[in-house]
Amino acid sequence: MTVHFIGAGPGAPDLLTLRGRDLIAACPVCLYAGSLVSEGVLAHCPPGARIVNTAPLSLDGIIAEIAAAHAEGMDVARLHSGDLSIWSAMGEQLRRLRALGIPFTVTPGVPSFSAAAAALEAELTLPGLAQSVVLTRTPGRASAMPEGEKLAAFAATGAVLAIHLSIHLLDKVIAELAPHYGENCPAAIVWRASWPDQRIVRATLATLDAAIGSEMERTALILVGKTLGAADFDESRLYAADYDRRYRPVGAEPRFPEAS
Ligand SMILES: C[S@@+](CC[C@H](N)C(=O)[O-])C[C@H]1O[C@@H](n2cnc3c(N)ncnc32)[C@H](O)[C@@H]1O
Repeated sequence: MTVHFIGAGPGAPDLLTLRGRDLIAACPVCLYAGSLVSEGVLAHCPPGARIVNTAPLSLDGIIAEIAAAHAEGMDVARLHSGDLSIWSAMGEQLRRLRALGIPFTVTPGVPSFSAAAAALEAELTLPGLAQSVVLTRTPGRASAMPEGEKLAAFAATGAVLAIHLSIHLLDKVIAELAPHYGENCPAAIVWRASWPDQRIVRATLATLDAAIGSEMERTALILVGKTLGAADFDESRLYAADYDRRYRPVGAEPRFPEAS
């Protein structure tokens, strides 16, 4: 018996890895994390599967479900939204499973920041503008932020910020970022990226709050950075006609002559 942790993606049922889909289809038990995992993803469960929404359960309750499946020799598909490497609460479950000697695997998923960038048709790292993306959040009731991880500290680098779990604190986010990025810095909010009711607002730090109106849906990402909507940026050297590289040797004395 194995517990398969699977990144269920941002919402659209076809933004799931083939491995994830096949594992879901092979498991007689499916535990999924609340409303961020779509019905379409759950539709990959086999007929008669035990499907449990873990949103109302405590960690002890979730582990009890897994232990019960383990006792029956039934594989479990454990679904969390997006990718498992960020804000999935997988770490604490793996620690318990290791202690109990219950085997598991981990299958990555499409993270929501990628789905949001795709919705914006944006490459977040553009030459000369930004070469780093910070995946972060603001403190929540259940999660304090470590001292060094203030938004202002990340903002001081000029990196593109993908701010999760924070739409309800938008005014505070803007106030903290504007002194670093400037009020005219491009910003965007993507609600429910990849869902049928996906919504996008593009603005600047100065206009973002007014631009979203009375939108209250909480599943949203705030993106801030110079690359959003940018048209004025350098082309990458990699594809420059005169750039000598292994796969495209250029000039009289290429750096990788054996490849030519
Ligand atoms: C608990 S975190 C889960 C993050 C997830 N593991 C991931 O890889 O993106 C939930 C937050 O992720 C963001 N999020 C998740 N799905 C989203 C979506 N489809 N569209 C926009 N933001 C999303 C929101 O900021 C939300 O508050």
